[in-house]
Amino acid sequence: MSSLLVTGAGGYIGSVLTRMLLEHGDSVTAVDRFFFGRQTLPPDDGRLRVIEGDIRTLQQAELRGIDAVIDLAALSNDPAGELESEKTWAINHAGRVRIATLAKQAGVPRYILPSSCSVYGFQEGLLDERSPVNPLTTYAKANRQAEGDTLALADAGFCVVVLRQATVYGLSPRMRFDLAINGMVRGLFKQGKIPLLRDGTQWRPFVHVRDTARAMMLMLEARPERVNAQIFNVGSDDQNCQIMPLAKTVAEAMGIRFDYEWYGLPDHRSYRVSFQKVREAVGFHPACSPSDGAREVYEALRSGAVDPDDPRTITVGWYKHLIETSRPRVLL
Ligand SMILES: NC(=O)c1ccc[n+]([C@@H]2O[C@H](COP(=O)([O-])OP(=O)(O)OC[C@H]3O[C@@H](n4cnc5c(N)ncnc54)[C@H](O)[C@@H]3O)[C@@H](O)[C@H]2O)c1
Repeated sequence: MSSLLVTGAGGYIGSVLTRMLLEHGDSVTAVDRFFFGRQTLPPDDGRLRVIEGDIRTLQQAELRGIDAVIDLAALSNDPAGELESEKTWAINHAGRVRIATLAKQAGVPRYILPSSCSVYGFQEGLLDERSPVNPLTTYAKANRQAEGDTLALADAGFCVVVLRQATVYGLSPRMRFDLAINGMVRGLFKQGKIPLLRDGTQWRPFVHVRDTARAMMLMLEARPERVNAQIFNVGSDDQNCQIMPLAKTVAEAMGIRFDYEWYGLPDHRSYRVSFQKVREAVGFHPACSPSDGAREVYEALRSGAVDPDDPRTITVGWYKHLIETSRPRVLL
């Protein structure tokens, strides 16, 4: 049993990870601004302690006695990252480097930075952790800078691991329909059509939300000498998908006739990624496929467990709303 501090614990990945850690028997200190509401996490109890706070101001005392930090807090996708780009840098880069620095000073032995495969941007061929990066957006650039600056803190007493996650899908208490597979399922559910980002030939790797949380848990248990100061892509080789064939798979999984409508300008992000390293280092194999994820999201919509029109499920739209309605307008 470990004592873990998770930032962004109320988010899409964090709310799933926090539950899995509690089920595993760990204690969790959950730190979040709760931009998407406090209801995404269970109530405090003996093993869950919730701090409604900001990673830019969190007190070092909160890190004493912690065995590992998983630093998920961020403005979490490309469009949200462009809303107020200086805030994206202040949170996604400086905020997380601050948490890593405080953790090291407080004697926390392990720090995990959940980054993103979006740092690869547009590139041909199969990319691995040694490939050059090509971050195209503020979000991807801030992630890349956070990778470098947190890895620089690694030493024999402070194990730092960077996880470049594929695009995540599946059900979470903080549901996101601005993620490709989840958005496809919502489109089919609402309009019988999949919204497809032009031109459908772009490649993207995918991973289920419980699988990426499991990869983080494997990294908590891995021997430091096996993982310290390293970057790992998190996903699986067979979940590198082109968007148009993926949409067909999603429709088939739900037994719904495939129909689609285009949106947006042609997407310049396209990358295929190798996941050999994480497989070999910690034996990570995803348990879920895009079809599994599509079916579980569809079932949650069908049963009414998830509201397809909840405005909080579209990250950039919700941040815009919070900025416009907060008084004074300094929410972020
Ligand atoms: N979902 C994906 O497909 C995906 C893919 C690759 C990487 N990631 C990375 O994983 C992390 C989590 O993503 P997510 O999908 O769970 O996003 P999310 O938006 O659902 O969660 C982020 C959480 O961080 C909180 N937060 C934001 N700024 C904060 C601050 N200054 N202090 C404290 N809390 C703050 C928000 O309230 C939210 O609960 C992000 O770093 C993201 O870049 C996500």
